[in-house]
Amino acid sequence: LETKERVPVIWMHGLECTCCSESFIRSAHPLVKDVVLSMISLDYDDTIMVAAGHQAEAILEETKQKYKGKYILAVEGNPPLNEDGMFCIDGGRPFVEKLKYVAEDAMAIIAWGACASWGCVQAAKPNPTQATPIDKVIRDKPIIKVPGCPPIAEVMTGVVTFITTFGRLPELDRQGRPKMFYSQRIHDKCYRRPHFDAGQFVEEWDDEGARNGYCLYKMGCRGPTTYNACSTVRWNGGVSFPIQSGHGCIGCSEDGFWDKGSFYDRL
Ligand code: SF4
Ligand code: SF4
Ligand code: F3S
Repeated sequence: LETKERVPVIWMHGLECTCCSESFIRSAHPLVKDVVLSMISLDYDDTIMVAAGHQAEAILEETKQKYKGKYILAVEGNPPLNEDGMFCIDGGRPFVEKLKYVAEDAMAIIAWGACASWGCVQAAKPNPTQATPIDKVIRDKPIIKVPGCPPIAEVMTGVVTFITTFGRLPELDRQGRPKMFYSQRIHDKCYRRPHFDAGQFVEEWDDEGARNGYCLYKMGCRGPTTYNACSTVRWNGGVSFPIQSGHGCIGCSEDGFWDKGSFYDRL
């Protein structure tokens, strides 16, 4: 990697909450400083860059021209299409216009999180702004979906590391997610699985089963239908994940998770 030219990255933000960025900057393996200083050249990121206003837009334009066909476009959030995109204005124009314009010359696009991949809570019924996942707007570029709300930090930097190391995109599944991180369900590797298999379930919050660390399936855990790496990679540098903290998985990496009833639906 030391001998390779750093890959230019343009990171754009549509309708989102910025927690995908918050997750990214906490990557421990690799450390995010190594990603940003040695692997990629983060030329434009309107949330964290020093430049603002016309200066920032000039950098965006310069990067687009200089690295035509060579930069990665990382997108956090999505464009709202209603009212000609007026619900998200970025640099004086609808975000959807800016997104299409920057996507034109990108080598590939990374859709960070549930927002860019599926729509997320801003697309919840009745979706008044018509928040729309980016693959419905950009049809002619490879798009790597890295879902989760947010995605795991090391999954994000793992995807970036793969691209910068091998110079190609990781293998994707039918839904456009990297197979190396999204080919297993949370349930497949959950440490509470022996309790599931033994029929030992939490029946009420804070009951004896909860104190014993029993399976959270009856409390609405969506681990059996959720594809993500939480039960293997875990969060906070491998320390824990929602189920280990005592709460069922809400399926935050799955399409439509926000509209699938209450997170506390019991069996
Ligand atoms: Fe925030 Fe979730 Fe959207 Fe990421 S996917 S920007 S964490 S709402
Ligand atoms: Fe499966 Fe959830 Fe039970 Fe873990 S807590 S074994 S993911 S149902
Ligand atoms: Fe999300 Fe479930 Fe992991 S809620 S963070 S996919 S355990």
